[in-house]
Amino acid sequence: MRIQYLTFFLVLHVNPCVPSGYDVICPLPPPCECDRDDPIVYCRDKNLTAVPTITKADGLWTFYLGANQIRHIASRNFVGVTLQMLILDSNKIDSIADDAFAGSEDSLIVLHLHYNRLQELPVAVGSLRKLMGINLQGNPMPDFRKDVLQNVSSSLQFISMGSVEMPKWPSNLKYLPNLISIDVYDVTFPSIPNDALHMYKANLSFFSLYNTSLKALPSLDGLDSLGDLLFQGNKNLSANAISNAARSGLPNLMHVTFQNNNLITLPSIFMNSPKLGALSVYSEPMEDIREDVFSPGLSKNFIYLFINDTRLTRIPSCVSSLPTISRLQITNSKITEINSEDFSGMTRLASLYLSGNPLSQLSNDAFMTINQLGDLRLDNTMLTTIPKAVQNIKALQDIDLSGSPVECSCASLGWMKQWKTKPSNLQIFGSCANIHMTIMSFVSLEVPKCAN
Ligand SMILES: *[C@@H]1O[C@H](CO)[C@@H](O)[C@H](O)[C@H]1NC(C)=O
Ligand SMILES: *[C@@H]1O[C@H](CO)[C@@H](O)[C@H](O)[C@H]1NC(C)=O
Ligand SMILES: *[C@@H]1O[C@H](CO)[C@@H](O)[C@H](O)[C@H]1NC(C)=O
Ligand SMILES: *[C@@H]1O[C@H](CO)[C@@H](O)[C@H](O)[C@H]1NC(C)=O
Ligand SMILES: *[C@@H]1O[C@H](CO)[C@@H](O)[C@H](O)[C@H]1NC(C)=O
Ligand SMILES: *[C@@H]1O[C@H](CO)[C@@H](O)[C@H](O)[C@H]1NC(C)=O
Repeated sequence: MRIQYLTFFLVLHVNPCVPSGYDVICPLPPPCECDRDDPIVYCRDKNLTAVPTITKADGLWTFYLGANQIRHIASRNFVGVTLQMLILDSNKIDSIADDAFAGSEDSLIVLHLHYNRLQELPVAVGSLRKLMGINLQGNPMPDFRKDVLQNVSSSLQFISMGSVEMPKWPSNLKYLPNLISIDVYDVTFPSIPNDALHMYKANLSFFSLYNTSLKALPSLDGLDSLGDLLFQGNKNLSANAISNAARSGLPNLMHVTFQNNNLITLPSIFMNSPKLGALSVYSEPMEDIREDVFSPGLSKNFIYLFINDTRLTRIPSCVSSLPTISRLQITNSKITEINSEDFSGMTRLASLYLSGNPLSQLSNDAFMTINQLGDLRLDNTMLTTIPKAVQNIKALQDIDLSGSPVECSCASLGWMKQWKTKPSNLQIFGSCANIHMTIMSFVSLEVPKCAN
């Protein structure tokens, strides 16, 4: 995941000196294709059983060779080109010759080998003196060869690893002192040694766990550079287990994502995180958020809160008092009612999405304090009218009620005739449920004719 940032960065910024649009020699034959502007070969999902014969070509190359049927990377397989990135994921590779990457030892910085059949970290990897990032997850590799890791230890910063065949935390990871990003996939062991991440205290910035069976985390205390945390599909990890790992707080935390972990509440890991900017919670059976999860100290930069597909039945009161949030989404959950206090402390709210909730009641006194709200999405709810509370919002530009059973009649919408401060450019999206008309047309054509 995080390695993709690195990949993206390299593609955009590092490829030097290649004039745009010139006719390069494409080093791989059809069905492989070369990019028009950059030294990149696209050859994904072409049924290749081996790396095709290479034609010599200048430049610093990226080869996309994933999702083929390649089993073996042969000796000196890439001689003739200088590689910067080599993508070989999702093949059937079970062996790589020791000198497979000859010619690219001082240029290859990103190597993707995930979802292959490697039982051991290939010696060829140890020849890559500039290697910054490697993806190894989904290979039946129990640990990593110490001698290979030692060769790349000074440059390697991003590692992505793990499979069901990894019986425990790979102890040889200790030979990679410069890691700033660790992604762990699919491991079935229940815990990681508590001090496993201590050696990365100064520099570890990204830590992600995907689809693991972990019940406990190693200590995250003291990881003062940790900025991004992502937990996805870790069904046995509880909110308490996560909270217990970060008791003294994570001072540099900026982005956190929880998705599909079976969390019934949010972990308390944000106490000392004044830089927290965005929190995303997707598909968790969460019913509430505890009062103490967002301490007053974290506020300053916290502007995005995205919650989708949960069991929340109301706006949690700790959310109502977050003063810096500008985009709040609590969608596809179980919220039936909005009360007058629900956004009372959220003075900077500019966009609010409540789409996909069974919302049928919205207090007339809601939205009293949120003057900057421009975009209000109430689509796919149970609302039968435009809630009168929208009169409280001075900056409102868009209201979306698509898919909500809005009754277009004077009884339901006649109140809008009295709305003196209605913004002139207000856009209303959605259709009337009772007549064949858009809500917008009904409001502009029929509402003025309603009796006072
Ligand atoms: C890939 O090769 C196999 C046999 O080698 C063939 O059956 C299959 O249709 C090929 N698939 C594609 C997408 O070319
Ligand atoms: C480590 O690097 C040295 C020098 O480049 C090389 O001779 C050796 O084969 C490498 N060892 C491994 C295990 O990759
Ligand atoms: C952490 O990163 C800094 C530079 O960002 C570097 O000087 C330092 O050696 C790194 N520390 C460790 C333990 O890798
Ligand atoms: C999750 O892990 C299981 C084994 O524990 C594996 O069978 C499954 O394919 C993995 N799913 C994903 C989405 O990685
Ligand atoms: C982890 O969760 C899976 C269900 O996702 C369950 O089958 C398994 O027994 C759990 N493992 C442990 C060690 O609790
Ligand atoms: C939100 O949850 C719904 C399921 O309730 C899902 O269909 C949708 O893709 C999710 N959206 C995002 C952005 O996660």
